[in-house]
Amino acid sequence: MRLDYFIANATALSRRDAKKAISSGLVKIEGRTCRKAGTQVMPETGITLEGQSLSLPVERYLMLHKPEGVISATKDSRQPTVMDLLPAEIRRGLHIAGRLDADTTGLLLLTTDGQWSHRITSPRVNCPKTYRVTLMEPMDADAIAQLEQGVLLHDEPRPTRPASVCQLSERAIDLSISEGRYHQVKRMLAAVGNHVNGLHRWRIGSVVLDPALAPGQYRELTCEEISGLA
Ligand code: URA
Repeated sequence: MRLDYFIANATALSRRDAKKAISSGLVKIEGRTCRKAGTQVMPETGITLEGQSLSLPVERYLMLHKPEGVISATKDSRQPTVMDLLPAEIRRGLHIAGRLDADTTGLLLLTTDGQWSHRITSPRVNCPKTYRVTLMEPMDADAIAQLEQGVLLHDEPRPTRPASVCQLSERAIDLSISEGRYHQVKRMLAAVGNHVNGLHRWRIGSVVLDPALAPGQYRELTCEEISGLA
């Protein structure tokens, strides 16, 4: 990576201030002053700024059990957000990999790693998300077949991708989808003449919501969980 990118990521300096610090001779690579912002460096290269040794922050990956009534946003002036559930020192740089509606509960992933979250949310990557859906009306075999095939949502030209459905009881299903359209699950059930009473996401790809986490609690992902989604 470029030296100015490294400095900006390893410190609170903007990219422009990082370039100024480099051209002013404040930065050394392996003990030698370097004034070229475009110099290529590796994360493990020994780099100092005014004598202070620098390193890149490690990426963070968290799972959170989202409670009802909390919104999936990093900031909101009126309602509590999922960020309010995290200590201030770990919030920096985190973003949400796949939002949930305010009334949906369950597994939310937060990370500083943009490439990793892209693989979870991109419709081009087939990363299934599984929701426990409780319904107003009983589900029949015809509605299940429609969901499995793909349904046309109101005001949308393309049907949803084939979903997988596991019926748990008359009014409860597990629905797995690999897209993230706006209110997708609620709209899919509306398209087959039903209504969602409760929605809980419990799996994203190979990562399952930890049953030890009460609503509002979070934990770091394990290395296996991180690489399982990479
Ligand atoms: N689909 C919905 O309708 N709501 C969610 O929160 C997630 C998926």
